[in-house]
Amino acid sequence: MTTPFALHAARIVERRLEAEDIHSFVTRFVDPEVRRKFTFAPGQFNMLYAYGVGEVPISIVSDPADPTRLEHTIRIAGRVTAVMTGWQVGDVIGIRGPYGKGWPLDSARGREVVIVTGGLGCAPVVGVINYIFRRREEFGTLHILHGVKTPNDLLYRERFDAWRLHPRTRVYLTADQPDKSWHYRVGVVTNLFDELVVSPTAVAMMCGPEAMMRAAIRSLRRKGIAEEAIFLSLERNMQCAFGLCGHCQLGPLFFCKDGPVFAYPQVKRWFGVSGI
Ligand SMILES: Cc1cc2nc3c(=O)[nH]c(=O)nc-3n(C[C@H](O)[C@H](O)[C@H](O)COP(=O)(O)OP(=O)(O)OC[C@H]3O[C@@H](n4cnc5c(N)ncnc54)[C@H](O)[C@@H]3O)c2cc1C
Ligand code: FES
Repeated sequence: MTTPFALHAARIVERRLEAEDIHSFVTRFVDPEVRRKFTFAPGQFNMLYAYGVGEVPISIVSDPADPTRLEHTIRIAGRVTAVMTGWQVGDVIGIRGPYGKGWPLDSARGREVVIVTGGLGCAPVVGVINYIFRRREEFGTLHILHGVKTPNDLLYRERFDAWRLHPRTRVYLTADQPDKSWHYRVGVVTNLFDELVVSPTAVAMMCGPEAMMRAAIRSLRRKGIAEEAIFLSLERNMQCAFGLCGHCQLGPLFFCKDGPVFAYPQVKRWFGVSGI
């Protein structure tokens, strides 16, 4: 991108309903030059603009190998996202980015990877899971641990089913409040760690509710995984997205440019302190 705040027109080329209130949109930049130059890493995000309504940060879930096909998954949270989920194929929207630091894929190469997600917050890890599957031989065993409150909260159900069929891949699911349709574990996501057999040299990547991540960090540490090998994707309200406005600042850290993916030691001091 030429400047960090340049806004580019992009056309919606595909729209998918993932769950109630959650839609995925595939876009293509209108300008072929922008399409050609746009590169990103899994874990980075874009600012998506609904013309005349507002702009919000949304993770990129598509594969960086094909930046001409840019995908985002949006859950209705409030004013702007409610308008966005009304977008139709053919509509033109504004995109600026990519912003922030992505997942540590270079240091994860050759090692086992543990992905922990919870609740509805798994968009940032979908991109990294897809990335690893497309380059499967470069990574060790992939463990995907996902916890939901109720079976209805399980997004991407068919993707979890597809993921578990891959070689050297284990998928562990649990629900706090199961119903008769639920065939997996019952209880909180940390119960899944009983089943997890993993090398202490693994790299862990997680996103979701902060209480879940705190408990997952304790479980990962008990498995011998170093704090430096645990990475979290964190969300804060954002405006500029490139370290100018201070909106996302926490101590010396700007979540937009130093994150949203952090190594645990970077945020340990503040992580989970209520009110922050
Ligand atoms: C780096 C990053 C990546 C994100 N990726 C995705 C994604 O892939 N898909 C997705 O659906 N959402 C994602 N989000 C969250 C999304 O940006 C917010 O849901 C959105 O900004 C809400 O805007 P709104 O105008 O619809 O709601 P508003 O009317 O502004 O807010 C609704 C409620 O959500 C709260 N809120 C707003 N933004 C945030 C935030 N960032 N963190 C916590 N609470 C917030 C508000 O305080 C309010 O209580 C991401 C956020 C960040 C920071
Ligand atoms: S959003 Fe402006 S400094 Fe991070």
